Amino acid sequence: MAKAKGRRKEGGRGTEDRSLAEMRKRNDNKPGMHGWLLNAFAMALVGIAFLIPLIYTSQIDAVRSDICDNNTDSAHLNVQDFLDNFVCQYKPKDHVISKVDIPGYCHPKLQSIPQNRTQLVSNSQIFPSTTLFLLKRTIQWWRDAPYHSDGIEAGEHVMTLPRPLQIWDLDALRDRFIQQHFLGYTSDGLSKQIQEHIALHKETKNPLDSGAYLAVYLLRLLQSSPISCLAETNECRSKDSQDIELVPWTDIEQHSERIDLLRDYLNILPTYADRIPDSNNYNMHEHPITWSKQMLESLFPKHTHTYNLIVSYQTMVHSEYNALKVTSQEEFGAHVNYSEYIGMRINVISRAFSAIANEHNPGSSWNTVGSRPLSDELMSYTTSNFGAASKQTSGFKFRSMCPLLDMYNSHPNPNVIWRYDPLTSSYNILANNNTIPPNHEIIVSYGKYTDGHLFAKYGYVNGDGSSKSEVSLNIFHRILGDVGLSWQFSPLPFHLWNQQYGDGSVSANSTQLLDMQSKELLRYLMFDDGHKECIQFKNNDNSLTKQQELKLLKFQHLKRLANLSLAWIVRLPARFPNAQPYSDKSAVQGDESRVGIDAKRILSICRLLSLTVDDVGGEAMDYLRNSLSHGYSPTSPETHFQVEMHGSTLEYRSLMCVARLSDIAFRRYGQYSQPNGNPEPKDRNGREWTAWYIRDGEMRLLSILRQTAMNEANKIKHQNQLKDEIIFMRERPCSLEYSLPILNLDAST
Ligand SMILES: *[C@@H]1O[C@H](CO)[C@@H](O)[C@H](O)[C@H]1NC(C)=O
Ligand SMILES: *[C@@H]1O[C@H](CO)[C@@H](O)[C@H](O)[C@H]1NC(C)=O
Ligand SMILES: *[C@@H]1O[C@H](CO)[C@@H](O)[C@H](O)[C@H]1NC(C)=O
Ligand SMILES: *[C@@H]1O[C@H](CO)[C@@H](O)[C@H](O)[C@H]1NC(C)=O
Ligand SMILES: *[C@@H]1O[C@H](CO)[C@@H](O)[C@H](O)[C@H]1NC(C)=O
Ligand SMILES: *[C@@H]1O[C@H](CO)[C@@H](O)[C@H](O)[C@H]1NC(C)=O
Repeated sequence: MAKAKGRRKEGGRGTEDRSLAEMRKRNDNKPGMHGWLLNAFAMALVGIAFLIPLIYTSQIDAVRSDICDNNTDSAHLNVQDFLDNFVCQYKPKDHVISKVDIPGYCHPKLQSIPQNRTQLVSNSQIFPSTTLFLLKRTIQWWRDAPYHSDGIEAGEHVMTLPRPLQIWDLDALRDRFIQQHFLGYTSDGLSKQIQEHIALHKETKNPLDSGAYLAVYLLRLLQSSPISCLAETNECRSKDSQDIELVPWTDIEQHSERIDLLRDYLNILPTYADRIPDSNNYNMHEHPITWSKQMLESLFPKHTHTYNLIVSYQTMVHSEYNALKVTSQEEFGAHVNYSEYIGMRINVISRAFSAIANEHNPGSSWNTVGSRPLSDELMSYTTSNFGAASKQTSGFKFRSMCPLLDMYNSHPNPNVIWRYDPLTSSYNILANNNTIPPNHEIIVSYGKYTDGHLFAKYGYVNGDGSSKSEVSLNIFHRILGDVGLSWQFSPLPFHLWNQQYGDGSVSANSTQLLDMQSKELLRYLMFDDGHKECIQFKNNDNSLTKQQELKLLKFQHLKRLANLSLAWIVRLPARFPNAQPYSDKSAVQGDESRVGIDAKRILSICRLLSLTVDDVGGEAMDYLRNSLSHGYSPTSPETHFQVEMHGSTLEYRSLMCVARLSDIAFRRYGQYSQPNGNPEPKDRNGREWTAWYIRDGEMRLLSILRQTAMNEANKIKHQNQLKDEIIFMRERPCSLEYSLPILNLDAST
């Protein structure tokens, strides 16, 4: 698992912003021979190239069997065939005229490595071209890049993935089975929606992410037998209780052409069996979403950062499956078991790329009938990502399964960049700034993720210090709302953390969750730092002291911040941000002494917690009260009140508070947090090493944070000769009983 073998991701963001046109221009500007010379050269080449396959065939075969070793089983042959042909040899259907149906393309130097399920740059001087089609491509390439080097040159076109081979969540939402069984469509179209046929998460009544439907759609395509029932015969129809005709699971008439085209891709997707831990072998596709609680807790201690993230993913997938099953018991429930669903859902989570398209792009209207405006259409689907809160202006962000592109491994410093081209709805893959030398695998970037997030989502880490580490210091309360999955899934009804989302009522469970969270928040306030005496509330207090009033104000601020995950998160920059996917790990140089942690937000929270009535020139109470009246958005950190630095005593207590939170978080790692308690496993392959690597990053971050905060605090103490009395920090918290009445006071204000 350490080294990204066969793991893939979603290209969350396309950060590299060089346009395709620019890249093309660079190529055009290369010194080229005059046209006639070039043509003569190409003609000569045709002569030679025709002979090459004959002369070299045996040599190529030798190379292949050499690579394949004794693994030449049928699975590898399928993968080899897929890698060589599925995208590379795709030709448009000639009878359809469409801007979108364009040929697939692969650079002639790409060589398939089936046992590693990827492609690399061939070191061979000749290309394994055995067909006339490849030959044409080869000649084309020679003409376009007359001064080619051994590898693939900077900016060169590496691969094109046309739209007909991509599978979008939008395609899934247009599937009639999905529309009728999960989106509440009636069989005659759009007129009215039937509530019982709308799939919703049970606890929150939130809609499902479109990725869930993409998984269902892929399962439908995969499970269809070549001879499926004919749409017009009655056996194909099932009726629900209200006698409404519904498309049955087995009716895939709507997609008969697609299925044939896509079958080879569907067949090589990893299955559930590929994703589960295998006690005897290293399973290269293993994914933590399939882990048991027991396995998870043994590797990532409870309530540590990555643990929480993995649990969130697991909860989401589980809740989705239940929602789908409840809504379509007879059809979906009867045909898809939980294992099959997880298996396919992981493929969507870890292999879909984003495609940003609006209604003018052909990719969004491709392969559909009717002409509803795209935004109306998307609004009519009950999903979490295309719902009311997603008023995108520039385009909608679709999830797209990307054959071949999803076979390339990922690294923050990739050797190719991928671009979605909205004009043709194809993905173009271009060599990055440097030549890709022979024998180098094609490496893309799925986006910049922290190690823990990368692992929870894709099931791998690069393990070379190229990604950031991250922890969250919400050690006393659970963050509701955004649990790291944004609008994909939340334990809270969406409308509770974003008012734009519907109106809905608050269920008993949500109320209970919120009440619990409020009580948890009190634990941050129990220390009463800076006060020799605990601040005690009584239930029948008529008037509040200044200290009590300040504490109540703190609580009210804390509630606003409670669900804002970014306010609690601290990140450690990548240790070796320039690590290259091909470098020798031990040789990577980095400056260990120069670590910059951005702890601004957590320090601001600690300043809030540490305020006393004497701070801010004795105006602490007004300071908090005034800022409470300012509007803010629950989801946007910029709009939140931040406590600035106010004098050295407050700063001292705040820094010590950061040290305290880090310390408690550190101790969550239990046995691993003991001296020498987290030794590096010898075998770098597999989950033990990966978990060690992630834990190590998180614990390193926490101890650096603790140490830095303590050092800074002591510096302030000595520089300002602060007396122990005013910088009093409590070792153990005051009793919770003293603070509990705050809940009632808050409710009555
Ligand atoms: C496969 O190759 C390995 C070493 O490359 C060898 O040890 C093993 O015996 C081979 N297995 C078979 C079935 O040939
Ligand atoms: C396939 O991956 C393994 C493990 O990372 C690596 O050692 C091997 O060199 C790769 N094979 C090829 C042909 O690149
Ligand atoms: C409320 O949550 C509990 C677990 O926290 C669960 O067992 C129960 O089914 C939920 N109730 C409803 C009505 O969803
Ligand atoms: C789920 O279905 C698959 C395919 O039909 C089957 O192989 C597997 O055993 C089933 N799993 C469970 C847990 O029933
Ligand atoms: C690649 O080139 C672009 C602009 O030409 C530059 O912004 C970028 O930093 C370069 N990337 C690397 C890895 O050198
Ligand atoms: C969490 O967020 C929701 C919605 O913004 C809010 O109603 C709730 O009060 C917050 N949590 C706490 C403890 O207040």
